[in-house]
Amino acid sequence: MAFYFSLLGIARLISAVTAAAALAPEQRSNKPLDLCRLVGAHFPGKVWFTNSSEYVDSQESYYTLQERELNPSCVFRPARTADVSAFVKLVAANDRYPKNLSKPLFAVRSGGHTLWSGAANVDGGITVDMRGMNSFGLSADKKTASIGGGSNFIDVYPQLVPHNLTVLGARMPGVAAGGFLTGGGKNFLARKYGFACDNIFSYEVVLASGEVVYASASQNQDLWLALKGGSNNFGIITRFDVATHPLLGMWGGIVGFEYTPDTLSVHAQAFSDWMRPENVDELSDVAIILGFVNGSFFIEDSLFYSAPVVSPPVFAEFTKLPGVTAQSLELRSVAELVIFMGSILPATIPRSFELVYAFYNPDAATYLALFQTWQAGIQQVQGVQGLQIQYLVQPMPVTNGTNSLGLPPHQPDITMVVLTAAWDNTVDDDTVTNGLQAIVTRHEAILDAKKLNIGYKYLNYADVTQNPISTYGAANVARLRAVSRKYDPTGFFQARVPGYKLPKK
Ligand SMILES: *[C@@H]1O[C@H](CO)[C@@H](O)[C@H](O)[C@H]1NC(C)=O
Ligand SMILES: *[C@@H]1O[C@H](CO)[C@@H](O)[C@H](O)[C@H]1NC(C)=O
Ligand SMILES: *[C@@H]1O[C@H](CO)[C@@H](O)[C@H](O)[C@H]1NC(C)=O
Ligand SMILES: *[C@@H]1O[C@H](CO)[C@@H](O)[C@H](O)[C@H]1NC(C)=O
Ligand SMILES: *[C@@H]1O[C@H](CO)[C@@H](O)[C@H](O)[C@H]1NC(C)=O
Repeated sequence: MAFYFSLLGIARLISAVTAAAALAPEQRSNKPLDLCRLVGAHFPGKVWFTNSSEYVDSQESYYTLQERELNPSCVFRPARTADVSAFVKLVAANDRYPKNLSKPLFAVRSGGHTLWSGAANVDGGITVDMRGMNSFGLSADKKTASIGGGSNFIDVYPQLVPHNLTVLGARMPGVAAGGFLTGGGKNFLARKYGFACDNIFSYEVVLASGEVVYASASQNQDLWLALKGGSNNFGIITRFDVATHPLLGMWGGIVGFEYTPDTLSVHAQAFSDWMRPENVDELSDVAIILGFVNGSFFIEDSLFYSAPVVSPPVFAEFTKLPGVTAQSLELRSVAELVIFMGSILPATIPRSFELVYAFYNPDAATYLALFQTWQAGIQQVQGVQGLQIQYLVQPMPVTNGTNSLGLPPHQPDITMVVLTAAWDNTVDDDTVTNGLQAIVTRHEAILDAKKLNIGYKYLNYADVTQNPISTYGAANVARLRAVSRKYDPTGFFQARVPGYKLPKK
């Protein structure tokens, strides 16, 4: 997901909806636009067809080409929870393929930042574009922020900066609440407070029945826990009530180095050391980024510190590394830092693919072996037009286990890697995906041999083929299935809404 390049109330159901009577059977037809027309008639000004700028805006705002290439028959842009509830009731009542458990009916999107085709868009169905549901509220005691399900964190942070507060959100622009928070949520303060999802007090959710419910530690507790990692499998989340945390400012940015064997070695040592439990500074976040763009390798680090401290000692091993070619380390507010990251990243990318994996922090020699294997693996794909590859090494959030992810709690020394590629042409899809798979297979073999591979795949960075929810462990998967049976007895969100689904038995 993160892609760096070169330096580079329970809503009362509106009566119209209860009136959302199912079409009489004789009115049913298989013409794809009919359900859109029906929805359009019920939600004037909120359903957009290919001939509108609202439709085009929605399509163009996806991060990757594979998502932009899918053409929904219409885009529904709800403004409030009652719209979402009414929509779900209407489409479920008029589902023309109720027995067809493999045909997606509607997709749900917030930021639309997930790479793979069909994560949050759908060909020939309806796309529910949640971006208009971006309300923001702060409780009187300032301990809870309520953010709409389609809120982009770039719009949330500035509302909290004047209070010296933040919420745990995305580190890159374009990433919005719905996907980020239901997949986990790697954030600037993840070594102190864990995943963003660990910090959610309650959810307002529209279930498959269209009913609006709240899930918290004291109400629908099973659903509350399931939503912490369970992606879009249980309903459409219209509001998140999340913990605020104090934040006076950030220091950090990007530093680039000459790509040499020596630089790789000293990075391997610096990262392995920084990850060691005795060296933990919970306010610090580091990522090493090895890249290959236009035939050249590069290496850069992102260093982030969640306090207004210039060059904090915890980064000493990184800031003293030789061969610095460029750096942009500065004091900034969290809002400014995320905007800065956006300024060095493309707003959209072409064809793309990524794989994620995780392991216990190894010694420097093992990191170096991973780096060298990565570099060698690039040879298989280097001729691909427009190829850009990034190998990103960063810490896993230190969770206390208040989620469904199944990660060992309180472990500061789990590393997460995401290998991402972008390229120009469909003809190269197999070459690139096979090339990346081969690198990851070799990496996992190295880690398995040392019994360091933990198997968990972080959903927000996973390709759909990695089936991330299946890596949460058998007990969590069984619990998630039970929650689905209880809150969505027909399995509507399993079958009719695309995304990262619960593993099939
Ligand atoms: C756009 O398409 C829809 C559905 O076909 C139609 O109802 C609407 O009138 C069209 N609007 C314009 C401006 O052509
Ligand atoms: C069910 O949906 C799949 C995927 O869209 C399609 O291939 C298949 O023909 C559909 N089956 C029926 C009976 O409509
Ligand atoms: C935020 O922190 C700054 C620096 O400590 C302080 O001057 C300011 O009064 C604080 N603002 C609020 C609203 O607490
Ligand atoms: C886990 O962390 C969250 C977020 O910091 C906190 O609200 C919760 O009370 C913690 N739970 C336990 C069991 O420590
Ligand atoms: C790659 O090189 C081409 C041709 O020199 C140039 O147009 C393009 O901007 C470069 N791309 C990147 C990401 O540097």
